[in-house]
Amino acid sequence: MSELILKTENLIKTYFLKQETIEVLKGINLEVKKGSFIVILGPSGSGKSTLLNILGSIDRPTQGKVYFDSIDLFSYNDNKLSEIRNQKIGFVFQFHHLLGEFSCLENIAMPALINGTTQKQAYTRALMLLEKFGMADKKNRLPDELSGGEKQRVAIARALINDPLLLLADEPSGNLDEENTNKLLEVFINLKNEGRTIVLVTHALEIARVVNQAYKLKEGRLYAL
Ligand SMILES: Nc1ncnc2c1ncn2[C@@H]1O[C@H](COP(=O)(O)OP(=O)(O)OP(=O)(O)O)[C@@H](O)[C@H]1O
Ligand SMILES: [Mg+2]
Repeated sequence: MSELILKTENLIKTYFLKQETIEVLKGINLEVKKGSFIVILGPSGSGKSTLLNILGSIDRPTQGKVYFDSIDLFSYNDNKLSEIRNQKIGFVFQFHHLLGEFSCLENIAMPALINGTTQKQAYTRALMLLEKFGMADKKNRLPDELSGGEKQRVAIARALINDPLLLLADEPSGNLDEENTNKLLEVFINLKNEGRTIVLVTHALEIARVVNQAYKLKEGRLYAL
């Protein structure tokens, strides 16, 4: 339980624009233990997505380090990083980012196919994940033929297809009503109970009570709640 999956060292992210310099992250030190569920709260524009994107290696920090699974993440080039992402990190975006011309099953299976898994294995596992989220009957639907909550469950299934060490989710309930938000939070709580390591950015304050650690990001710094 005490094994660290993720550790950041003095993460700094600054955007240098023509007219101004925006210091978004001013020294973030975060540790995430294997099997823990971490929540990050904070006002709009405080840098939550910026931080999560760096944790998931989608974006590079201006300064500082991220150790993931004991490796210095940003010592690798972009090709190697996308390989690490594909194999070890599951990312759920705020607006699902499902591919509109592919079915649910195909969307979920895709990261496994990219990773060289056979079609049979990829689709079997994709179907298993859809079943787990109570959506097996919708496997052939296109994303546009699903509700917002259903799309997000498919996006979570896609993030889980390669059995990642870490699941990162950026406000997955951002555009859902209360009932669907609660359903989605339940999915994450169940995943935590299965031993998944999760970092979730959310506006749903009530989740903070049931996780291992909640933080607030404010003025570039992280405060434990
Ligand atoms: N590519 C960029 N170039 C310049 N500034 C950026 C860029 N991306 C984000 N920012 C700025 O960085 C700050 C943090 O943005 P970020 O998207 O991380 O906030 P957030 O906490 O996720 O907000 P929200 O809750 O609205 O999603 C904002 O002031 C934003 O304008
Ligand atoms: Mg955001």
